[in-house]
Amino acid sequence: MGETLLVTGGAGFIGSNFVRLVAGKRRVVVLDKLTYAGNLENLAGADHVFVKGDIAEPGDVRRAFDAAEGPVSVVHFAAETHVDRSIEDGFPFLRTNVLGTQVLLDVARERGALRFLHVSTDEVYGPLAPGVFAAEDARLCPTNPYSASKAGSDHLALAAHRTHGLPVIVTRGSNNYGPYQFPEKFVPLLIANARDGKPLPIYGDGLYERDWIHVTDHCEGILAALERGRPGEIYNLAGSCHRKNLDVARFILKALGKPESLLRHVQDRPGHDRRYGPDPAKAARELQWKPRAKFEQALAETIRWYDENGEWLDRVRSGEYMGYYERHYGDRLRSPAPPHTR
Ligand SMILES: NC(=O)c1ccc[n+]([C@@H]2O[C@H](COP(=O)([O-])OP(=O)(O)OC[C@H]3O[C@@H](n4cnc5c(N)ncnc54)[C@H](O)[C@@H]3O)[C@@H](O)[C@H]2O)c1
Repeated sequence: MGETLLVTGGAGFIGSNFVRLVAGKRRVVVLDKLTYAGNLENLAGADHVFVKGDIAEPGDVRRAFDAAEGPVSVVHFAAETHVDRSIEDGFPFLRTNVLGTQVLLDVARERGALRFLHVSTDEVYGPLAPGVFAAEDARLCPTNPYSASKAGSDHLALAAHRTHGLPVIVTRGSNNYGPYQFPEKFVPLLIANARDGKPLPIYGDGLYERDWIHVTDHCEGILAALERGRPGEIYNLAGSCHRKNLDVARFILKALGKPESLLRHVQDRPGHDRRYGPDPAKAARELQWKPRAKFEQALAETIRWYDENGEWLDRVRSGEYMGYYERHYGDRLRSPAPPHTR
């Protein structure tokens, strides 16, 4: 089975999809603080060892390394991720994304991690004019506290490679969609509201353009980078599928048989980036990786998933998943040894 993968943030959206992808093929330890965005239900049925802890606490990170058997590679997803929340209060973003990443890098070095895959975002490049694409060496121009904290963590991760020789690889994914995404984010929020017949809030004119990637394609790209990426290198993982927010919203309404009158333009997000455009060429060339999903088909499947998992949506939104967590892990987590779910 090779080395153990220590997956931080594995109870979140992309992390849990990644654990599902590798579970059974790799030994997996998940380290997650279970913030409002983390949900153990996302990991149900996927073979893993769970350690509840904070990446900004060295003791918690060491416990997670202790829970792994043999050599370890780190796949680092854990982060505060919602731009709107970062605009309200940037501090948790700096604590987890910047300080937490540094703690993780330090313990990874201390424990001789084989590889350290840092999961980042195309948002670090900032807004790009139409037709412009950012290669990995493009200037970083983050415009909100979330993307600024991610850019900071990218620099720290690469610095750990250059100064200490830690085998760090950075990936910069574009906008993800797929199952298990917390419904504060654009796609699941719109699906949830459309299902309930509630208005769909659209920032400004809705003509903001994103490069969309299906979460499974993103996770396969992360695995390819972990296995075939060169330490010290950055790889854009782009879906190469550009759509405007308003078009995505209209697609969701149509798929759920709801009227366009539910679209509600609302006051824009301050500093809202107009367009992202990561250049995918290097990942295709060096990792032999390409996204496979066809956007409209994969988005229709995603809509179906949320529609069929209405109870998941309701529980996540009501905070009921903390009850699940308590029922499932409460006693085990109160004991000093990391609990095992295998
Ligand atoms: N969602 C996207 O479109 C996207 C695109 C590119 C890159 N990314 C990056 O991918 C990663 C995962 O994003 P996501 O959308 O799955 O996020 P998410 O918000 O769904 O999940 C984040 C997870 O991290 C955990 N976490 C937060 N703070 C922690 C801490 N201090 N210690 C331990 N665990 C903690 C949460 O409990 C949660 O399980 C992030 O690093 C994000 O920047 C996301």
